Amino acid sequence: MALKAYDLSGRTAFVTGAASGIGRASAVLLAEAGATVHCADLDENGLHETRALITEAGGAARTHTLDVTDRARLKAAIASVDRLDVMAAVAGIMHSSTVLETRDEDLDRVITVNFKGILYACQESAHAMIAAGTRGSIVTMASGAVDAANAGLLCYSVAKAAVVQLTKTLATELGPHSIRVNAVAPGWIRTPMTDRHDEVLQQRAEATMVRMSPLRRVGEPEDIAHTVLHLASDASSFTTGQILRPNGGVAMPW
Ligand code: NAI
Repeated sequence: MALKAYDLSGRTAFVTGAASGIGRASAVLLAEAGATVHCADLDENGLHETRALITEAGGAARTHTLDVTDRARLKAAIASVDRLDVMAAVAGIMHSSTVLETRDEDLDRVITVNFKGILYACQESAHAMIAAGTRGSIVTMASGAVDAANAGLLCYSVAKAAVVQLTKTLATELGPHSIRVNAVAPGWIRTPMTDRHDEVLQQRAEATMVRMSPLRRVGEPEDIAHTVLHLASDASSFTTGQILRPNGGVAMPW
């Protein structure tokens, strides 16, 4: 009976960043829970791979190749969904530079993708949910970076802190529509994003996770997908405006 709360049969989810890492794992798990999943990303090949994984698992998926910073394109993709129940706004990029080395163009790019990309997804999905009268769930992707001072991560941390504020503010505004809004703030997760990152930093972070985490391991995308499913489903029916931290007990491992 308890598992019924996780059943998304007959519901529709939209996942940004679905071509890779946490977004892909979330899209696959939401589909395994029964949702029809609309997968959006810049990376067309990655989207096709995600769709194949969903289809192999017996699920249903559509793909939308788009840039989340293109509000008009995102709006059109969301409008193509019959009745939106779940938005998981996951797409994001990593950027490292010290405060003294941070250039305007770096700050603009990271804020645009990591904050505005999530803001647009929230706004457009909220309009769609209100119009359809769905008791929807919006899940945003923050980061453990908001809980610590992170040398070299100014732009990223600022954008993710803005996502936290957006999530809490929107939850208060959408509550009267029975729409819930929550954020996930993962710790260090092994994905193509962290693999692409500075190799020394990556090895140090992974070693620290294994040493410091009470669970003695690095996080995997599926660990975060389970938190996304929890927030997307009725299992979290009285949870809104919250920041959940699947981080193995360690906010930031450096
Ligand atoms: P990833 O690099 O594996 O996946 C990110 C996806 O977002 C990629 O498929 C990429 O093509 C897509 N994307 C990037 N910019 C886009 C744009 N403008 N429009 C459309 N799609 C775009 O990265 P990962 O690790 O799966 O990260 C997913 C989210 O989780 C990000 O928001 C990241 O900041 C967040 N996160 C990741 C952590 C980690 O340790 N991997 C920790 C905390 C948060």
